[in-house]
Amino acid sequence: MTAAENLADIHSCARPDEVVVRHLELDLTLDFAAKIARGTCALTLDRKLASAPLWLDTQDLAIESVLTDAGASVPFKLGARDPILATSLRIDLPKGCTHVTLHYATRPNSAAMQWLDPAQTKGGKEPFLFTQGQAILTRSWIPLQDSPGVRATWRATIHAPAALRPLMSATTRGGDAKSGYTFAMDKPVPSYLIALACGDLAERQISKRCAVWAEAAMIESAAAELEDMERMVASCEAQFGSYRWGRYDVLVLPPSFPFGGMENPCLTFATPTILAGDKSLVSLIAHELAHSWSGNLVTNATWRDFWLNEGFTVYVENRIMESLYGIERANMETVLAMKGLAEELKQLPPADQILHVDLTNRNPDDGMTGVPYEKGAAFLRLLEQQFGRARFDAFLRTWFDQHAFQSVTTAEFEAWLQRELFAKDAIAAQQIDLAAWIHQPGLPVNAPTPQSQAFVDVDRLRAEVMQRQSADSIRSVQWNTQQWLRFLDGFDVNAKLLAEVDESHHFTQSGNCEIVCAWLQLAIAADYLPAMPRLEDFLLNVGRRKYVRPLYERLNHARDGNARAIAIYQLARPHYHAVTVRTLDEYFGWQPK
Ligand code: BES
Ligand code: ZN
Repeated sequence: MTAAENLADIHSCARPDEVVVRHLELDLTLDFAAKIARGTCALTLDRKLASAPLWLDTQDLAIESVLTDAGASVPFKLGARDPILATSLRIDLPKGCTHVTLHYATRPNSAAMQWLDPAQTKGGKEPFLFTQGQAILTRSWIPLQDSPGVRATWRATIHAPAALRPLMSATTRGGDAKSGYTFAMDKPVPSYLIALACGDLAERQISKRCAVWAEAAMIESAAAELEDMERMVASCEAQFGSYRWGRYDVLVLPPSFPFGGMENPCLTFATPTILAGDKSLVSLIAHELAHSWSGNLVTNATWRDFWLNEGFTVYVENRIMESLYGIERANMETVLAMKGLAEELKQLPPADQILHVDLTNRNPDDGMTGVPYEKGAAFLRLLEQQFGRARFDAFLRTWFDQHAFQSVTTAEFEAWLQRELFAKDAIAAQQIDLAAWIHQPGLPVNAPTPQSQAFVDVDRLRAEVMQRQSADSIRSVQWNTQQWLRFLDGFDVNAKLLAEVDESHHFTQSGNCEIVCAWLQLAIAADYLPAMPRLEDFLLNVGRRKYVRPLYERLNHARDGNARAIAIYQLARPHYHAVTVRTLDEYFGWQPK
């Protein structure tokens, strides 16, 4: 039994200290016409308290029956719906019963699942399905103990229409269209890492253990963009210990995917908006890969420990970037991220600036700010700086090794840190105000801020352009993506000057979504009309929350923008995943009818 199983996770109805699910077997048939998955979920139980019932999490599931292996019905009861936790399922287990099978179906509105019509795909001919489990959405497609403190192995058989290929976040794949595709995850994983996608998919091998999957119409560009995957895995292994998951594949999804990436084990799910054509946005893959250590191997026990996943991952991501593309590039990315954090901190209430954040009565999704990511990573950079890279690397590597396939709390990390690092060098430890970093708001003053010489030039030229109200000085500069992002940040100018920049650099039509998103925000503020068709097109096609949220916000604040923002949202809303819809509904005060 692991410590995390005895912890109360406020975001789950499960009581893993009484009965814990050790293994799951799914058999699901995907009905694209009805937008429903139907079948069975068989659970293998470890009954720590002989007489206790089994409590599961569900959301918008139709539970048809619960049976023992002998076929006897087991009494069950769905609870009242909670606005955050959704619906508990109490199963009154017969004496000694350690195996039950639930017959159930999802509903078309099951939040994790997005069923795309053919028109929402690149190919345009076949439908597509993907799931997004993190943080607490797996319960909307599988009845289980939906807590990151509970780990289980699983197997699945997926029946899909013949033209479509299902894929899952599994260590092994088998089967075929006729008898169903099979998947198995032989390592214990938390529920939020169980993922399924199904569409007209093609595969390109990158190396022996790495492949790219995408719709056929996108597969060549996806494979070219991600050609460095194997080098990334090798680099991370060399620095932080062996890759324990067998294969590392990336699935590039249609553009409605609500996140940049999701670290589903063995199969990262990624937005197509990283396909810039020049590998300039591949740090996202470094990030999702890094989760194979920080997050998937060593997992946050509860969602308030989320920074142990994301802060560590941003740190490791940057180390991969440094080793593949050099310190200059890695520093540019960190400087951009820290600038973003500084701006966000000005807006965030103090309670949300704490790494070990209190999420009582809140959706864990609300904790997904720059704080766990960038403040978390800055803390690790400070540790590296104080104790030296060699010692810090050894420390991190043993943290991963000693907690492999476990879920951990912030308190466990603090104790480990004291014992394994601080106790060994009191002088270095003195420089670190642990309480301020982990339990208090704001960014401690000794947060390391890397410098980028390349950005000094960019800053100088931005100031010059703004002062002269002429784009002459940048007409022929050739900067990389990170330099342009630096340039556009704070480039608040009028439409005339934007037009001048657009003439030489064609940002309105850029295929680099990171640049387009920054550019469109400036265009909205300046009322630069030639960019407006691109804005509408972008909002109607891309569902990545990080991009669409600031665009709607800018538009909503622009002169006469509120009506336009709502008109576009009304058209785009049916094309977004539930995660993006929830955020934007809240923003617009939208009442679903
Ligand atoms: N695990 C996260 C995505 C996530 C977090 C989904 C919380 C649901 C709840 C993933 O690893 C991530 O951080 N993605 C980022 C990209 C990254 C490069 C910062 C994203 O999607 O923007
Ligand atoms: Zn992440």
